[in-house]
Amino acid sequence: MAIALTGIGELVTNEPEHDGTALGIVEHAAVVVDNGRIAWVGRAVDAPAADTERDLGGRAVLPGFVDSHTHLVFAGDRGSEFAARMAGAPYDGGGIASTVAATRGASEDQLRALLGRRIAELRAQGTTSVEIKSGYGLRRDDEARLLRLAAEVTGETTYLGAHVVPPEVDRGDYLALVTGEMLDACAPHARWIDVFCEPASPHAFDGDEARAVLEAGRAHGLLLRVHGNQLSAGPGVRLAVELGAASVDHCTYLTDADVAALSAGDTVATLLPGAEFSTRAPYPDARRLLDAGVTVALATDCNPGTSYTSSMPFVIALAVREMRMTAAEAVWAATAGGARALQRTDVGRITPGARADLAVLEAPSHTHLAYRPGVPLASTLAVGE
Ligand code: NIG
Ligand code: FE
Repeated sequence: MAIALTGIGELVTNEPEHDGTALGIVEHAAVVVDNGRIAWVGRAVDAPAADTERDLGGRAVLPGFVDSHTHLVFAGDRGSEFAARMAGAPYDGGGIASTVAATRGASEDQLRALLGRRIAELRAQGTTSVEIKSGYGLRRDDEARLLRLAAEVTGETTYLGAHVVPPEVDRGDYLALVTGEMLDACAPHARWIDVFCEPASPHAFDGDEARAVLEAGRAHGLLLRVHGNQLSAGPGVRLAVELGAASVDHCTYLTDADVAALSAGDTVATLLPGAEFSTRAPYPDARRLLDAGVTVALATDCNPGTSYTSSMPFVIALAVREMRMTAAEAVWAATAGGARALQRTDVGRITPGARADLAVLEAPSHTHLAYRPGVPLASTLAVGE
């Protein structure tokens, strides 16, 4: 059944053909949805007849947010670690062990319920696609369990056995496990492999270790993404570009060579300003990347340690206020940018054939996502309700 969404004050399509800008804005627009897909996009006055019509009363509509970086399957709470950081303590990844202990101790049903609540939270704020990593199991069966649970809610599952070396385990033995038996158990449930490449953390992995992890994942058919340059200008960004990773995430500390590599390659730079907010770190230099022609995505990094937010609108507001992105650049990065980071062409845009994954704003324009920070303007548009 075809449904016409009319009365759209501002439609963000991410298709430049409409207005010559990256956001591809159509004013006074309509969208026809048929069977879960976009069937028609244009000015309301030109809209074809449909079976039913829904008038959106001048609200703005945009592609649902594509949150391309989360760690949503975990148990436990690290509010006290956050409080300590706000009082001056640094972040080095050491707190991950406490989430690992709580997650291992939780039942499958408990983890499923926690994950379900977080998915509902994120959908309520306009997110329609989400990537979810493992990384709080760090034993073969625990990692596989987290990925099985993640696969119940998304196709974008990422094996992050190489999150940190668990405290009780020898580093060499752990690397052998992550690239061997654990990978064998996890690969059937994952599309991606990721590694926390960060020589500045005693818990994470250096460039050689990260390369070994990524190459092993690739040999098992997994696609690559990297946590890189979060705490220092380490080798993560250049390794990601060299190996053709879809995305390198964080990019907080970059050298000129890192920026040059990103602008010459196809790897998306995914910025996660919720992490800088919650660790009181300097924000990444988004302008330097954009000015060099790098494709930038924005994501929440939702996790209990460095960024316990599920809100893409909050991330957009941070990117605009703190990273000097324009509202248009930030909205693009949170939709089309996320889709690029996940190598998806069926989401992050509103065009015939794409999935009808839409967000609607209680506002007339996408600018309000940054202009009215903290106000719950965005929600997922459930077509057919
Ligand atoms: O993306 N940096 C590594 N991993 C997460 C944090 C995980 C945690 O502290 O629990 C991140 O920031
Ligand atoms: Fe992360």
